[in-house]
Amino acid sequence: MDKLVLASRNPNKIEEMAQLLKPLGIEVLSALDFPELEEVEEDKPTLEGNALKKAEYVHSVTGLPSLSDDTGLEVEALDGAPGVYSARYSGENATYQSNVEKLLSEMKNSENRAARFRTVVAFVSDKETQSFEGIVNGEILKEQKGEGGFGYDPVFQPEGYYQTFAELPSQIKNDISHRGRAIQKFVAFLSA
Ligand code: IMP
Repeated sequence: MDKLVLASRNPNKIEEMAQLLKPLGIEVLSALDFPELEEVEEDKPTLEGNALKKAEYVHSVTGLPSLSDDTGLEVEALDGAPGVYSARYSGENATYQSNVEKLLSEMKNSENRAARFRTVVAFVSDKETQSFEGIVNGEILKEQKGEGGFGYDPVFQPEGYYQTFAELPSQIKNDISHRGRAIQKFVAFLSA
């Protein structure tokens, strides 16, 4: 395999994943390189379902091995919400900021701040379909901290750290994050 297409147009995700895939020494493309690709509706009830749907679609159009990710923030005090609905948590026109505000408001009376990010990465090639899961445990702070990262990063503090993902250097986020861990498993699988 000398090329891989990331089934994403999100520049933050593409950058993180390209960094994590460097050990493979292959050319990493993304949906931005294939204007003919349409937006895939993430309408499955699970992260696994959405990740597979995206990777299968991109593989079917490009004919190249494809890798997708779907991520959810699972908050204990909210019974696992927003979970698979993390992207549209605050409604159809949700932004990163409106989602974070809704989360802080839903949790304003909650002492239990435990949460985790869970990513499922799906790989689809001519020969095989595989998925890999990555989890990072942590807590939701009461206020936003930091300018880096994206999404819920300014309120998520991973276990063992006193900084949020938006404050930690991207190298550390990549080493310990949900997406980092799922892609490390994929890299190990391909290298085996
Ligand atoms: P999706 O995988 O793009 O569907 O992501 C679902 C939601 O989780 C979106 O609102 C993203 O912004 C958020 N999200 C995904 N990955 C991360 C991350 O690494 N940090 C913070 N938020 C994330």
